Amino acid sequence: MQQQTGGVSMSRARTRIEAKVRTLRHEAERVLGIELVPAHGGTFPRFTPGAHIDLHLPNGITRSYSLVNSPDEVDRYVIGVLADAKSRGGSRYVHEQLRCGAVLTIGAPRNNFALQEDAASTLLIAGGIGITPMLCMYRRLREAGRAVRLVYCARERSQAAYLDQLGTNDGSVQLHFDADHAGHPFDLGALLAQQPADVHAYCCGPDAMLSAFETACASAGIGNVHVERFAASAPAPDTPQGGYTVELAKSGRRLAVPAGAALLDVLLEAGVDVDYSCREGLCGACETRVLGGCPEHRDAVLTQSDKAANAVMMVCVSGAKSPTLVLDLA
Ligand code: FES
Repeated sequence: MQQQTGGVSMSRARTRIEAKVRTLRHEAERVLGIELVPAHGGTFPRFTPGAHIDLHLPNGITRSYSLVNSPDEVDRYVIGVLADAKSRGGSRYVHEQLRCGAVLTIGAPRNNFALQEDAASTLLIAGGIGITPMLCMYRRLREAGRAVRLVYCARERSQAAYLDQLGTNDGSVQLHFDADHAGHPFDLGALLAQQPADVHAYCCGPDAMLSAFETACASAGIGNVHVERFAASAPAPDTPQGGYTVELAKSGRRLAVPAGAALLDVLLEAGVDVDYSCREGLCGACETRVLGGCPEHRDAVLTQSDKAANAVMMVCVSGAKSPTLVLDLA
């Protein structure tokens, strides 16, 4: 089904929006802020704190970036892009070739990192460029008068973006720069041990920080744990396995997924209308309902409880433990 909203072409499976780069702004060392506006006027689709958009770059690479600005703004999207030293072409293109006035194709916002806005207390922990979703979340909770604390860590102050947008005078923001502490990272264990058990704790940052955060939450008995991983720091997906059958419940078609093949490739080659973007198990675009069989989850989107429930899977990187998978596809 097609809908039109402010010049935006949308379908359930894929949404593509033309966006123009209005401003590029130096936000910190190696961090470029990009303001996008609808290329043909109108408004962008609304989003919620923690959401991200996909940038479909002219070099054929797609990358996901968290939205920094207020969800109340429908006339623009703002993202922050770190120049990744290990860039495979995404952030390098953005930093070296993107110019004001360029028109890009972007995806509609998706949110794999949704904010529980009515939580009694919220702890946000950002590492480096992980500040981008947190800034939007923090401001939202502050505006609503909610109890929130933001801990923002970076190696050095010069690498910390958006410091000028944080009200740091009332104690709700704590900054930690490793360089000021003889290179030591922030003590997440000590902080989380002091939190009430019903706190909603969020973390976005490098893998080492996320691992420390999850361990500390488990030790502290905190159950409301939310993490988001960077595309750039996530492990590359394993070699696709295969050697099973996928059944498409809506059409009754059965497709063989040969050994060594990726499920998404088999679906696309068979003409199945399935959305996808990153192909790395990071963005959530290819989330598909599982109606039978047992998936082998390899993505970084679903929580452990989501994975245990086996109700959905990311078909770009995940496979099957059972001989047959039944998916909610035609
Ligand atoms: S395409 Fe991004 S998670 Fe599958």
